[in-house]
Amino acid sequence: MKASVVNGFGQGFHVEDVDIADPIGREVLIDVKASGLCHTDHSVATFLDLQPFPAVLGHEVAGVVTAVGPEVVEIAVGDHVAASLIQFCGRCAKCLSGKTHQCLHPEVTQRDASQPPRLSRNGEPMGQFAGLGGFAQQALIHENQLAVIPDEMPWAQAALLGCGVLTGAGAVLNSAAVQAGDTVVVMGAGGVGLSGVNGARIAGASKIIVSDITEGKLKLARRFGATHTINSVSTDPVEEVLRITGGGADHVFDFVGARPVTEQGLRMLGKGGGLYLVGIGGNDAGVEVATMSAVFNQHSVQAVSMGSSNLKRDLPMYAALYLQGRMNLDDLVSKEIALEEINEGYGFLKDGDLARVVITNLS
Ligand SMILES: NC(=O)c1ccc[n+]([C@@H]2O[C@H](COP(=O)([O-])OP(=O)(O)OC[C@H]3O[C@@H](n4cnc5c(N)ncnc54)[C@H](O)[C@@H]3O)[C@@H](O)[C@H]2O)c1
Ligand SMILES: [Zn+2]
Ligand SMILES: [Zn+2]
Repeated sequence: MKASVVNGFGQGFHVEDVDIADPIGREVLIDVKASGLCHTDHSVATFLDLQPFPAVLGHEVAGVVTAVGPEVVEIAVGDHVAASLIQFCGRCAKCLSGKTHQCLHPEVTQRDASQPPRLSRNGEPMGQFAGLGGFAQQALIHENQLAVIPDEMPWAQAALLGCGVLTGAGAVLNSAAVQAGDTVVVMGAGGVGLSGVNGARIAGASKIIVSDITEGKLKLARRFGATHTINSVSTDPVEEVLRITGGGADHVFDFVGARPVTEQGLRMLGKGGGLYLVGIGGNDAGVEVATMSAVFNQHSVQAVSMGSSNLKRDLPMYAALYLQGRMNLDDLVSKEIALEEINEGYGFLKDGDLARVVITNLS
């Protein structure tokens, strides 16, 4: 099959012939129908040391099942599925208490060293990022990383469910458990942040304030349900949030992950407010919390992984909300490209006005 391979940091994505194994155990083979370009794949390909190379990246993936391993119970040939990079065993104390996103044994979703690799090139094993490797014509994935979605779900929108949507909407609905009437700030209106806006609207937030550095993103954010937008280049976002909320917000979501932005987020909090760290910057990203002020104001700071999501419950739920017209995924799909165009696709995202670029031509 054809797959887009990264051979080393900064070397870009190149389509090559890659061999994919037959499913064993609880593995599911899918024909990939759509694969989203998340910012994290770009970071992994350029500086973030998460995945040895050569490797197939791509972790926002949807497709149709073509074969299943002998122990697969929840998924059948012909099912439409969306994947997520959350890996869980289903048996540890965290999983059994419903916190599959904190699973203690995610490695059970992977093959061990004694088994042949899922992906290989000329007989040499290759990496499969996050157990998915979605930048390819086919993907071999553990069934715990897949959820069945309705057949009527369009492929590009379905692909985005597993990372951008799960993370952004989940941060609001699960991690922060935003209540109707709460005030919400979303910093950074990329694919993840806009999904956070979707979540805040579904939760019934009274004010949804979005800051970004490009007017195009702010315009998009209003389409998703932002009640107020702030261009943080021309306006001080902290002063503006304090003014709009009358003293500070209940929930501030940092979908950027740069130290100055995170520090601004902390200063936007109202009494009892929570700051949620989602964006992943470089090693210098972070924030200092002054204990006295935090205690006096009852502030909290929470790091959020994958929107504290349970993918088996949440992916079908978001698909249903989309099909009912209650979640905007159409405006997340800004551009559709071919597998060969990933380098150009990440270039398009730099222009600032696109939410997500999705590979839908895998021929
Ligand atoms: N924690 C997790 O589990 C998790 C999961 C997925 C993605 N992420 C991370 O979330 C972040 C967002 O992902 P994405 O795909 O939406 O990225 P993206 O690049 O599409 O969006 C980032 C947005 O932030 C805006 N921005 C940049 N600087 C800003 C500033 N100073 N103030 C306000 N806005 C600013 C950009 O204009 C852009 O719209 C990335 O860092 C990604 O790695 C985290
Ligand atoms: Zn992602
Ligand atoms: Zn577990």
